Amino acid sequence: MHETSALDMSDKSRGYRELAGQLAALLAGEPDRIACAANAASLLYWSLADLNWVGFYFIERDSGDLLVGPFQGKPACVRIPLGKGVCGTAAAERRTIVVRDVHEFPGHIACDAASNSEVVVPVVADGRLLGVLDLDSPRLARFDDDDARGLERIVEVFVSALRPA
Ligand code: SME
Repeated sequence: MHETSALDMSDKSRGYRELAGQLAALLAGEPDRIACAANAASLLYWSLADLNWVGFYFIERDSGDLLVGPFQGKPACVRIPLGKGVCGTAAAERRTIVVRDVHEFPGHIACDAASNSEVVVPVVADGRLLGVLDLDSPRLARFDDDDARGLERIVEVFVSALRPA
């Protein structure tokens, strides 16, 4: 069993390096996307402080919408069209978006009223957009550029795990 506990994030780049190592070990040998996403969401949720939602949205092939995938937190919006909300914008523009105050983001989609800040990282494998990783916090300005870079590294580890050995 994997034991998780809140990480020491006094040095964020060191903290995310450690988290990336834990994730690589957790996902090693299993390329199934849903299985890896489920454990990645859990690891993040239980390792990082001040979160109320962590999870994945994956592109549905037929519609092109983002469809909710494995997550930790309260039940969430099921379907998000590309270009809508923070998730749809990050996916469409293929860039990480850090939102200090979700109430000031035009078109933000409120799933959990407790959320005040958010970060969304696109998940791209070999040039193909698979979806996004989304983290929400009840704390305003919970995420900064160091979190964005650290979570991009986490997504790289996730994407690498999906490649067959
Ligand atoms: N707030 C997101 C929707 C997803 S939930 O936060 C889980 C958005 O605006 O895209």
